[in-house]
Amino acid sequence: MNKIDELSKQKAYKLFDSGDIEKIEAGTLKGLCQIHKYLFDGLYDFAGKIREQNISKGGFRFASSLYLNESLAKIEKMPEISFEEIIKKYVELNIAHPFMEGNGRSGRIWLDLLLKKRLKKCVDWQKVDKTAYLQAMERSPVNDLEIRTLLKEALTDKINERETFIKGIEQSYYYEEDENCKSNVIV
Ligand SMILES: Nc1ncnc2c1ncn2[C@@H]1O[C@H](COP(=O)(O)OP(=O)(O)O)[C@@H](O)[C@H]1O
Ligand SMILES: [Mg+2]
Repeated sequence: MNKIDELSKQKAYKLFDSGDIEKIEAGTLKGLCQIHKYLFDGLYDFAGKIREQNISKGGFRFASSLYLNESLAKIEKMPEISFEEIIKKYVELNIAHPFMEGNGRSGRIWLDLLLKKRLKKCVDWQKVDKTAYLQAMERSPVNDLEIRTLLKEALTDKINERETFIKGIEQSYYYEEDENCKSNVIV
């Protein structure tokens, strides 16, 4: 793992161990920016900042930067009561990809906070295979069935345990490790 990712991972552990996670607003855009800022502060100059350039990944073009604020405002208003609704919101947030980098890692913490708030559950990421996850996310803009099924099977009610969070962070950073598919491309 490169230096930035290693340092960011330490910040992610600290988010839990310091108790700062309690100060994050669950499930909102503000909360997402707070998480991103926390994970990447001092590492990326765009920590916590919405992007102003267009980006793509694996040939998929994320939301146009011109309409990004509008898109995010719409996503913010999406319902988030049922598991299905929460996943739809998560998928839309991924399509928006608000930051230049770090959308995957900040988004998964955001998702867990929302699942905890609404359903008293979160994802046990150790149970979610890397290839299966990335394929399901790649598929998700067209159909969210795969990602919904994958994450539903991995739900846990051990929401306050340190091990759930720390192992989740390890897995989340492992998903993003491969150099070849790592960076978002500016388009
Ligand atoms: N082809 C794709 N289409 C849509 N979403 C994708 C695609 N490939 C990966 N993703 C999603 O994007 C995330 C990575 O986004 P990125 O901004 O690079 O975050 P990070 O820097 O944390 O890895 C993945 O975790 C996955 O959820
Ligand atoms: Mg990345």
